[in-house]
Amino acid sequence: MAATVSDAAAPAHQFPLPKILTNPASTPPTLITQGAEGRLYKTTYLRPDTACALKYRPPKPWRHPALDQRLTRHRILSEARILAKCRRDGLRVPSVYALDESAGWLMLEWIEGTPVRVNINNRLGNRTEGIEDDEQLKDLMRKIGTAVGKMHSIGIIHGDLTTSNMMLKPPSAGSQSDGAAGLEGEIVIIDLGLAGGGVHDEDRAVDLYVLERAFGSTHPRAECIFDEVLEAYKKSFKQAGVALKKLEEVRMRGRKRSMLG
Ligand SMILES: Nc1ncnc2c1ncn2[C@@H]1O[C@H](COP(=O)(O)OP(=O)(O)O)[C@@H](O)[C@H]1O
Ligand SMILES: [Mg+2]
Repeated sequence: MAATVSDAAAPAHQFPLPKILTNPASTPPTLITQGAEGRLYKTTYLRPDTACALKYRPPKPWRHPALDQRLTRHRILSEARILAKCRRDGLRVPSVYALDESAGWLMLEWIEGTPVRVNINNRLGNRTEGIEDDEQLKDLMRKIGTAVGKMHSIGIIHGDLTTSNMMLKPPSAGSQSDGAAGLEGEIVIIDLGLAGGGVHDEDRAVDLYVLERAFGSTHPRAECIFDEVLEAYKKSFKQAGVALKKLEEVRMRGRKRSMLG
């Protein structure tokens, strides 16, 4: 009675699926996002009740095939390596379940919850006032700062820090209190495809600057509480103060560049 995955998936996806997703034994994949570089599917790993995220980078017809293969392999291996290091060093990121760098996919632990972007926007609604007094929202900002600080303290630079590249994983069912309005839980940093090792304060400052700019354009009304991120970052590791000092220089350069057009 159950259709095979390829049957079930074919009408929903106009693109070829990687072989692993056409395995009739696994749960039909759901396409979660489709970006320029890749697609994110929700499916299962080994057992039908173990949800997982499959990140697939399809071949890019506009790139030279050999170069494309090399780039895809490199990015998948790099993301997996960095995820493994983060977990080893105690930063909450998805576990790596499996990968096939030649086929272009990486299978990760499924993180319940939503990207932080969604939580912030839901919380803001169409409010324009009282945002700077919203202690729960500010608490979420501090959690972001602490997570980024932890990441930098273990020598990882994210390369694409945005509120879409971090998830808020709600506390497990039963322990959730009512008043939290979806802001309780832990921050899980995701999308480390552009990440790399880095111990220079300049690199950390650029990482923070990317987040600051992305935050300002995604959540302009919450810009007034972004400082909470930096305050928590400052407390999160010894070197943080130096990176924040550098951030001021990076901002200046950014301003000069935008004046020059
Ligand atoms: N491990 C995961 N668990 C649950 N959802 C995920 C997971 N990884 C990614 N996602 C969802 O898929 C989206 C895209 O994944 P991401 O790794 O950011 O790839 P991209 O390079 O396309 O931005 C995320 O914003 C998030 O909503
Ligand atoms: Mg992303």
